[in-house]
Amino acid sequence: MSKIIKRDRGLFLTTTREDFNFVADHGEGDFAYDVTGRRFIDFTSFVSVYNLGVNGNAEIRNAAKKQIDKMMHAAFTDFYAELPVQFAEEMLKLLPKGFGRFFLSNSGTEANEAAMKFARLFTRRQYFLAFYGAFHGRTMGSLGMTASKTVQREHFGPFPNTVHAPYAYCYRCPLKLKYPDCGIACADYVRKYTFSKEASGKEFAAVFIEPIQGEGGYIVPPKEFVKEIRKICDDNGALLVADEVQSGYMRTGKFLALDNFGVTADIYTMAKSVGAGLPMGVTVTRKSLGDIPSGSHANTFGGNLVAVAAALAAVKHTVRNKRKLSSMAKEKGGVIMKRLERMKETYEIVGDVRGIGLSIGAEFVKTKEGKEPAVKERQKILDYCFEKGLLLLPAGESTIRLIPPLTISHASLKRGMNIFEDAVKAVNAGR
Ligand SMILES: Cc1ncc(COP(=O)(O)O)c(C=O)c1O
Repeated sequence: MSKIIKRDRGLFLTTTREDFNFVADHGEGDFAYDVTGRRFIDFTSFVSVYNLGVNGNAEIRNAAKKQIDKMMHAAFTDFYAELPVQFAEEMLKLLPKGFGRFFLSNSGTEANEAAMKFARLFTRRQYFLAFYGAFHGRTMGSLGMTASKTVQREHFGPFPNTVHAPYAYCYRCPLKLKYPDCGIACADYVRKYTFSKEASGKEFAAVFIEPIQGEGGYIVPPKEFVKEIRKICDDNGALLVADEVQSGYMRTGKFLALDNFGVTADIYTMAKSVGAGLPMGVTVTRKSLGDIPSGSHANTFGGNLVAVAAALAAVKHTVRNKRKLSSMAKEKGGVIMKRLERMKETYEIVGDVRGIGLSIGAEFVKTKEGKEPAVKERQKILDYCFEKGLLLLPAGESTIRLIPPLTISHASLKRGMNIFEDAVKAVNAGR
């Protein structure tokens, strides 16, 4: 074990890493390098942060460097500055019509906390609905909505008034039905039970949804599910909040992942790739919802000028190259999906493959018939890939997410997929 890992383990209270011994040194483009100089192809975007390439790009880095020498922090919630204004103006070009009230913070969880508070203020209602498998963050409000792994919630409750309902995880339907014959019974469940028995529909401030559940296992729901949830919100006067923290920012080929479902939310939350490597959270609301009283919500570092300089360079790049980024996500996602579909036919342990654009998951099972989660096998695949120089991350109980930067070269994509298939083949054979 590296000496750095030993020192780390003696110092830090908690982490989520248990099995990865990657000790970062530097990174650029498709690659990350560890402290021994080993090169890894990145299939993680460092948890969906580097959608525009590992360590951003030169434009982003130069903007941040320049801003460091000028002024780093300008207390954006107390004073004015032009950079955050430019950032919001630029981001508006990527958002649906009618949006235009922003709140800036430092992370995904803060973006969601803000959305919860705003939803309560706007509606004067108390309850939130989130879905089983959701990950919305780990601070008290957002953690109440997170329902992914037991360890994330155990001993931390009680939480604010949040209730949960089944997500349309069709490969493992929580209602044991089959899509499309099910008639989207899970959405029906929300209408008939959650929005009636947990609390009256009229008491719900908002429904929070990840358009694609990320930490929960890269689960893509059917369009009808998302549409029906929108309708349930409309019928009851509740707001729909789309958590785009992991699935947004062009990863699906569209700026907002929710756009793939033909639905518009009332509030969007974003983080991760917004700052392209620097901490930045965004909560953006529909203008018609109105304003919130001055001083009712604020923070110290939201709108930090270095983070915003990077975010502005990233969003300008995205506006300029939207078409190109979109086709990169679709085309490269198509390459991965085609290969995964073939692997599903070939190897018993590949149970399900799913995704939109470069938001992709492969779920591993002991047998296709029984669908028992292949937790150990998944770890072996991750280890094998790590040994061969491919960085990957798990999601859900037995899924691996394949989320390289949108900018990944075809050569690195192919090399990465070759390593991945070799790993699956070896683990499948050695069962
Ligand atoms: C969908 C989603 N929402 C919220 C968060 C929380 O973001 P952060 O870790 O920046 O607080 C995450 C983090 O993985 C996420 O995937």
